[in-house]
Amino acid sequence: MARAAAVHYSCTECGYSAGRWLGKCPSCSSYGTLVEDVLSAADGAKVPPKPLLRLVDVDAEEAQRIPTGVAELDRVLGGGLVPASLVLVGGEPGVGKSTLLLTALASISKNRRALLVTGEESTAQVKLRAERLGGAERVEILAETQLETVIATLESERPDVCVIDSVQTLYSAEVGSAPGSVGQVREAAARLLRTAKESGVATILVGHVTKDGTVAGPRVLEHLVDCVLQFEGDRYHAHRVLRAVKNRFGSTNELGVFEMTGAGLQGVPDPSEVFGRSAGNEIGSAVACALEGTRPILLEIQALVAPTDLAMPRRVATGIDPKRLAMIVAVLSRHARTALGAADVFVNVAGGVRIDEPGADLAVALAIASAARGAPTHEGQAAFGEIGLTGRLRPATQAERRLEECTKLGLAAVVAPTGAPAASGKLVVHEVDTLRKAIAAGLDADRTEAG
Ligand SMILES: Nc1ncnc2c1ncn2[C@@H]1O[C@H](COP(=O)(O)OP(=O)(O)OP(=O)(O)O)[C@@H](O)[C@H]1O
Ligand SMILES: [Mg+2]
Repeated sequence: MARAAAVHYSCTECGYSAGRWLGKCPSCSSYGTLVEDVLSAADGAKVPPKPLLRLVDVDAEEAQRIPTGVAELDRVLGGGLVPASLVLVGGEPGVGKSTLLLTALASISKNRRALLVTGEESTAQVKLRAERLGGAERVEILAETQLETVIATLESERPDVCVIDSVQTLYSAEVGSAPGSVGQVREAAARLLRTAKESGVATILVGHVTKDGTVAGPRVLEHLVDCVLQFEGDRYHAHRVLRAVKNRFGSTNELGVFEMTGAGLQGVPDPSEVFGRSAGNEIGSAVACALEGTRPILLEIQALVAPTDLAMPRRVATGIDPKRLAMIVAVLSRHARTALGAADVFVNVAGGVRIDEPGADLAVALAIASAARGAPTHEGQAAFGEIGLTGRLRPATQAERRLEECTKLGLAAVVAPTGAPAASGKLVVHEVDTLRKAIAAGLDADRTEAG
């Protein structure tokens, strides 16, 4: 007698599985996300075992990477696309995902077959963009949203690189739910993964991010793919940042910087030149030497301290975490004799860049202290170091790399926590152990506004 198919219920948000239907998922607490999943009766059938291999007997040759022709993208991927890999590129609407990937395809198509599967835009729309970017004449295009058709085409055509824009538009009739739903996206990614590995097509999926910044809702997709790249940036600023969140073939947290221009995205090989140039002895400005992945980057931090009558003065942060700003303001008041209780504090990272790294704390504190005391920071000076709640500075990671970057940019001095390695060249390192000493070393008190 045939066994009845086993029915169970799984959560579309977190993958939790239960034997009966529940209104609220016990694992992630979302409501109405449990859907029926049918396990086929064959699941319990007996299958023959497979012989095992020793790793020494496995044939593997280091696959030749495919250069994308976009230097910043290659850097983030770890030196180019790995054949037969699956890469997920996430980003907010309008940040420039399609532009970036069409540029890469255009360059790849010069020596290899490059295919763009577009489910979001018509072929005519893509053509208009291609004309604006130039050089994309040989890119092949398929306007299709049916998953099975896309897979069949990939299997028969076997292009070297394929971009799917976007994975949310793919639809398989076999999965009951609507296009863009978690079940559909997961199914599409899993089937494309299989096709990528079997047919040797390096596949790049474009994914939209949800409001809280995760790609396509479920983390399931991120586990599945080989690489996850995040494309971020403020739509109102020209600069975009590409980060590797996960990379099976290279280091993570690499950073690529682009500038959006009328002719497409241009790589910015030396971001410190763009973001780290302050006007010099301006009040309320300091340069941070932050570390993004393995790449040090100089960023100008600006602060404004304005007297206020508000009972709760405002602390407004653009580009840094508001909680970190509140902490820095509190440490400044308590440990560095910079009273800010009756003032609004605004902090901005120039160029629309966002930094999460604690090593940027000291520069933020210097910018605020400079604005509060009306004294500029020394010209040609950068700062890095994490501020502790006791007012003591903690050593920042990879100080050597940061100092190298400052030397490269021709800076004169750096304020850094004690224990920093010796700098090469003319760079002077002011080693300090507390925030108070850092402010004394970093501000040009002789040029105070009042005096
Ligand atoms: N003629 C132009 N000149 C300058 N910038 C342009 C021009 N046309 C488009 N852009 C820029 O390109 C961006 C849109 O790029 P793109 O379509 O690649 O984004 P996307 O991430 O694919 O968006 P979506 O999520 O909607 O698919 C716009 O926000 C704009 O900044
Ligand atoms: Mg797009």
